[in-house]
Amino acid sequence: MAKVIQIAKYGGPEVLQMVERDVGDPGPGEIRIRHHACGLNFIDVYQRTGLYGNPLPLTLGMEAAGVVEAVGSGVEHLRPGDRAAYASQPPGAYCDVRVMPAKSVVRLPEAISFEQGAAMMLKGLTAQYLFRKTQPQGGLRPGDFVLLHAAAGGVGLIACQWARAMGLQLIGTAGSEEKCRLALEHGAAFAINYAKEDFVARVKSITDGRGVKVVYDAVGKDTFERSLDCVVPLGLVVNFGNASGKPPPLDVGVLMAKGSLYVTRPTLFTHLTTHESTQAMADDLFAMVTSGQVKIRIDQRYALADVAQAHRDIEARKTTGSSVLLPG
Ligand SMILES: NC(=O)c1ccc[n+]([C@@H]2O[C@H](COP(=O)([O-])OP(=O)(O)OC[C@H]3O[C@@H](n4cnc5c(N)ncnc54)[C@H](OP(=O)(O)O)[C@@H]3O)[C@@H](O)[C@H]2O)c1
Repeated sequence: MAKVIQIAKYGGPEVLQMVERDVGDPGPGEIRIRHHACGLNFIDVYQRTGLYGNPLPLTLGMEAAGVVEAVGSGVEHLRPGDRAAYASQPPGAYCDVRVMPAKSVVRLPEAISFEQGAAMMLKGLTAQYLFRKTQPQGGLRPGDFVLLHAAAGGVGLIACQWARAMGLQLIGTAGSEEKCRLALEHGAAFAINYAKEDFVARVKSITDGRGVKVVYDAVGKDTFERSLDCVVPLGLVVNFGNASGKPPPLDVGVLMAKGSLYVTRPTLFTHLTTHESTQAMADDLFAMVTSGQVKIRIDQRYALADVAQAHRDIEARKTTGSSVLLPG
């Protein structure tokens, strides 16, 4: 039997319920994995509230690390006993043991703990595709300015370090002085407390009036329109999340008026469609972590049974860095 966190209807943290369910054996192309730690991500909130719809009842969770217990036919890259981790669709990571598609699962290097693995796969692979694959015309070069909102969060602190490793001057926004300090400690070149300061004006002043080459914006509703005012002509605005709500609909004429801008709305899961692409991105992430260029900071640990509190904390902007859920 597996202990799983399930929702039977969309709603607040109170809809998260622990239930027991048969786990079964893996079919072709599947594995059974026993989790040592599961990741908490803001996407879990969107799925709980129904902002991102899924069939109900739904087991939440998109990220975890543990040990492979059994493999189905046709699975060649994993064996029983392997340490492994993943960021994956379909949801279902909030549990102690599950059967799932093998293609999204990779072996976890010995130097990376289960907790780190659970804290970094979804967020670290996101930093990977944002900085390596979601670039402006002409690419990114050392010294370039980029702007990242929510720079002290889970994706945020990994992204600050990744940008520093690439020689980028990352300007990070965050909602308090303490969070700004964290972003700076993790590699942001500048930090703006957007609860108090006008971030457009500060970005202009930091960049001598020019703007940044790319804005990475996962705050959405509260920031997106002003993010368009932070980029250079021909610059790129990447909306990759909705922590404050979905951004308003975009009139593409605005992109002309603001300097022939590019806008994209990517998701990690487009980049993880094959095992080969997942493995290549994970290898890059693992190299960043094992070389010490990116450290995985876990600021919150919760028992899996206390997942509702974890959701309350991330929605209330009380968390910094990554959070993990421990099945026990
Ligand atoms: N598209 C993709 O592929 C992809 C993949 C991973 C993550 N994401 C997105 O990246 C963002 C960060 O994800 P995460 O899991 O690492 O979460 P997180 O950054 O740890 O938490 C979200 C942060 O957003 C900020 N925020 C601003 N307005 C908010 C509001 N009204 N309510 C709640 N938070 C608000 C808060 O930081 P401040 O207090 O500093 O403002 C908060 O700490 C999310 O939007 C997520 O959906 C997208």
